[in-house]
Amino acid sequence: MLDVPPPVPSNLREIQYSSGDLVADRRASYAAALASERAFAEAAELMAQALELVPQWVAGWNLLGGYREAAGDVAGAVMAWTQLLHLDARGLFGARLKLAAQAGSGAAPEPAYVEALFDDYAARFEESLVARLGYRTPETLATAIEQVMAVRGIARFGRALDLGCGTGLMGARLRPLVDRLEGVDLSAKMLAVAAQKGIYDRLEKAELVAFLKGQSVAAELIVAADVFNYVGALEPALAAVSRTLQPGGIVAFSLETHGDDDAVRLGPSLRFQHAVEPTLALCRSVGLEIAAAEPTVIRMDRGVPVDGLIVVAVRV
Ligand SMILES: C[S@@+](CC[C@H](N)C(=O)[O-])C[C@H]1O[C@@H](n2cnc3c(N)ncnc32)[C@H](O)[C@@H]1O
Repeated sequence: MLDVPPPVPSNLREIQYSSGDLVADRRASYAAALASERAFAEAAELMAQALELVPQWVAGWNLLGGYREAAGDVAGAVMAWTQLLHLDARGLFGARLKLAAQAGSGAAPEPAYVEALFDDYAARFEESLVARLGYRTPETLATAIEQVMAVRGIARFGRALDLGCGTGLMGARLRPLVDRLEGVDLSAKMLAVAAQKGIYDRLEKAELVAFLKGQSVAAELIVAADVFNYVGALEPALAAVSRTLQPGGIVAFSLETHGDDDAVRLGPSLRFQHAVEPTLALCRSVGLEIAAAEPTVIRMDRGVPVDGLIVVAVRV
């Protein structure tokens, strides 16, 4: 899940969607005020009362689950998310991921959840991520790409694809290095911010693996900055990247990493974390030779540095 600055817990939406009932809305708004004072148990109590009035209120169950979790009432949170799972047919609130993270079990990515999450976040994304959470992955990735360019004698790239381009923070770094820059993202609102920058030759709203599979023209550079942590198992994405790159082309991406044996695991943040060696082995298995693999800090999360890896690989 995304980082939302304290005191609101990171798995709560800041937007209070209306329940359609005046009294329930008022209780929910008192609950939000209590949560902002970190009085999570009291906030949960009020939200539960609001939901008694409007039991079909999907966003309300999401808030209740978050308040209960923040209050340490894990069983109560699981009950709320189970209810959310039944009510939220499109999976916009990521109930499946929340339940899986709590159970410590594996989970598939939820594109509808990611789309809704970033649509919700788009307007404050850059201020929040860069200014508050120290996000520097675009700079770090661009530096790693430039180093590989220097070693391999690459002056600039022709066609480049920015996967999960978001608001264009990575694109701004890539623009001076490439002739043609295309961005793809699940979130229309993130894409709208990117479009305002005027740095992309083309922007497309699509899931990145589906987008790559639809490419008939090869790319010379493909980049995914802070994106694969929403994708989960990387076989389909890396195989599609390799197929889309021309021989000698470069892929550069960041990962959030973990030290366990599993190739991929779902973190409590609801983002996926990857193990270093299995991911590098996966790259090689799809024809991507590792040119650089550097540990990095992706950003801060609730005051703690998020460990990660910057990878640059060459299509053999
Ligand atoms: C943390 S933002 C990073 C944005 C940008 N790369 C940057 O560095 O600022 C992650 C972006 O990836 C997008 N995203 C996540 N999973 C995706 C997928 N499977 N296909 C396309 N976009 C995806 C999200 O919508 C979001 O805009």
